[in-house]
Amino acid sequence: MARKIVITSGKGGAGKTTVCCNLGIALARRSLRVLLVDLDMGLNNLDVTMQMETKVVYDLVDVVENRCRPQQALIQDDTEPTLYVMPSCHNPKRQVGVDAIKKVLGRLNDTFDYILIDCPAGIDVGFRRAVGCADEAIVVVTPHIQGVRDADKTIAQLAQADVSVVVNRVRGDLVADGQMLSAFEVFSLLGKTALGVVPENDQINCNADIYAKNKAFDTLAQNLHCGTFDMYDCVARYKGLWGKLRRRFKKNA
Ligand SMILES: Nc1ncnc2c1ncn2[C@@H]1O[C@H](COP(=O)(O)OP(=O)(O)O)[C@@H](O)[C@H]1O
Ligand SMILES: [Mg+2]
Repeated sequence: MARKIVITSGKGGAGKTTVCCNLGIALARRSLRVLLVDLDMGLNNLDVTMQMETKVVYDLVDVVENRCRPQQALIQDDTEPTLYVMPSCHNPKRQVGVDAIKKVLGRLNDTFDYILIDCPAGIDVGFRRAVGCADEAIVVVTPHIQGVRDADKTIAQLAQADVSVVVNRVRGDLVADGQMLSAFEVFSLLGKTALGVVPENDQINCNADIYAKNKAFDTLAQNLHCGTFDMYDCVARYKGLWGKLRRRFKKNA
């Protein structure tokens, strides 16, 4: 039976799709069977981020409307054989309800260990649909006051008992300089289970696969799967004398 987890944030651009893809890759590298489901209807960021947009034949709405079987809509990742994507439809007007999607996911329940659902921004219809299909929620938050506020409001809307938090885009140099909230401050402000910390990383825009090799997502996958609480330390390399030099270098870059 698959664990169905929605990746949400309230705010656009917090890193939901990025976390969904890279967490999926990191879980698949542990030989777990993972399905990524794009419920950000119309934007189809997930298949673009996974570099699969040219491979889409059928999408979730085709499955719901019985034009194909769920397995026919799945796209297998090129590098991770246990990772699949269920693309969303490109037309946001072709709407489907929670029950119909739940039925489709129910048919894939035994095929996967994890079903990660990429949620749209906001807290309206699309959000409620994505959240309604999952038993657990991961809230992605950036370490800024506005981001924390949005995440807090999002958490208040979640019915799931299991809600955990990932702090994304942490800049270790700014945290060390006291110019950015630390991940631990964000965790304590939100008062939910700390699942992971992801640093700001310029490479993320070039190749999702390079980024997934990053220790941060591997630690995140380990925490999710094994129930550990190891946190990637974004600040370590900015401590001490060398750290001070790195900070100065980064500021002047
Ligand atoms: N840790 C990170 N470091 C650098 N860039 C990031 C990071 N996380 C996300 N991004 C970038 O931020 C942008 C928005 O991320 P995305 O995952 O699409 O957000 P969302 O799905 O929440 O709208 C993308 O261009 C993505 O590459
Ligand atoms: Mg997105």
